[in-house]
Amino acid sequence: MNKPDYSKFLSSRINFVEPSPIREMVSKIAKKSKETLIISFAAGDPDPDVIPRKLYAEIAKRIFEDERRSVIYSPTEGLPELREEIARFMMNYERVNADPDSIVVTIGGSQAIDLIGRLILDPGDIVIVENPSYVNTILDWKQYGVRLIGIPMDENGMRTDVLEETIRKLRSEGKFAKLIYTIPTGQNPTGITMSMDRRKHLIEIASEHDLLIVEDAAYNHLIYEQVEIRSLKSMDKDNRVVFVGSFSKVLGTGLRVGWLYLPSELVNLFKAAKGPSDMCPPVPSQLVVHRVLKEGYFEEIRKNAIKIYKEKRDIMLNAIARYLPGIKHTKPSAGMFVFLWLPSHVDGWKIAEEALEKHAVATIPGAPFYTDNSGRNTLRLNFSMAPKDLIEKGIEALANLVK
Ligand SMILES: Cc1ncc(COP(=O)(O)O)c(C=O)c1O
Repeated sequence: MNKPDYSKFLSSRINFVEPSPIREMVSKIAKKSKETLIISFAAGDPDPDVIPRKLYAEIAKRIFEDERRSVIYSPTEGLPELREEIARFMMNYERVNADPDSIVVTIGGSQAIDLIGRLILDPGDIVIVENPSYVNTILDWKQYGVRLIGIPMDENGMRTDVLEETIRKLRSEGKFAKLIYTIPTGQNPTGITMSMDRRKHLIEIASEHDLLIVEDAAYNHLIYEQVEIRSLKSMDKDNRVVFVGSFSKVLGTGLRVGWLYLPSELVNLFKAAKGPSDMCPPVPSQLVVHRVLKEGYFEEIRKNAIKIYKEKRDIMLNAIARYLPGIKHTKPSAGMFVFLWLPSHVDGWKIAEEALEKHAVATIPGAPFYTDNSGRNTLRLNFSMAPKDLIEKGIEALANLVK
């Protein structure tokens, strides 16, 4: 036996690879779920019972029976008729007059985010994000060696006054940020939606200081209250917003269909970089999403999801008010998450671990979403997944631990 020392073979890029704390928690949850029924406030998944799986099965049956192309590669950028439907979707839902040729279908928003990292970000580049922000974007872009700067948020989203100050300070030190990443609607992990004033200010700042904006629209279509907002892309006169879309949160995270809407100058570059690594997004999923959009099912599915998740959100918020009075938390008007700030001496990790072990309640600590090692006392709670009648019980168990 001459067993190799694998570390000798690994690339220097591995220095930037960090395991996702969420994945670790998810595997603990998976293990626990084999022993007992879990109340899950953990992942950012839709409720599988809200997704019309029977409808998908009928569509899939037709697709596999009738369409020979369902089992072969599609163009790297996605099927042309799906890109046309996505362009129509962008008009209906984002008020963006999108050219289908500037749309690249991706394996979820995740692949879109990774491609942006690969093609736009160099080691040492300064990237601005909300603090806290989506942990997988943080981990992915860290692999490209970037320096992340987190901008605090309040109930109106990213504090653009602090953003402006930060950019000016960097400039005075001869440093330049390259890109601002934001999840303006139903943000992950906080559930906060950015106000219109902040959206306008953000675009003005990006224009004045010549920065790119990445608008991650993962939760743009799960809005529970009448809020006067528009996508950043629809206000983007300079064409400096790269739009990351996803059908995951409404149609199902398992389908793995997302897209990039890019400035036309960047499309060929993204296609060329993507092709050798994935050939194309899964064709059966592309065909299912195409039918769902074309035959008008998307809006039905979305409306039903909104009705159910809104009820679940309210049950969770009422339970928090009842069992955790005085605890600071967000009141999301969109998305899938409530974010909690526990008393400052309470460790979110410990609570999450004990909640799982002792009460079979799964949550995600908020700390990994922060760029600056703060947020140890925070917890992210998903409200879309758990059955309605178990949400209150789960919150009561959490509250007992916190006390
Ligand atoms: C903010 C945000 N962006 C992107 C994604 C990636 O989702 P997907 O790859 O399923 O589209 C998620 C998933 O949780 C998310 O919360």
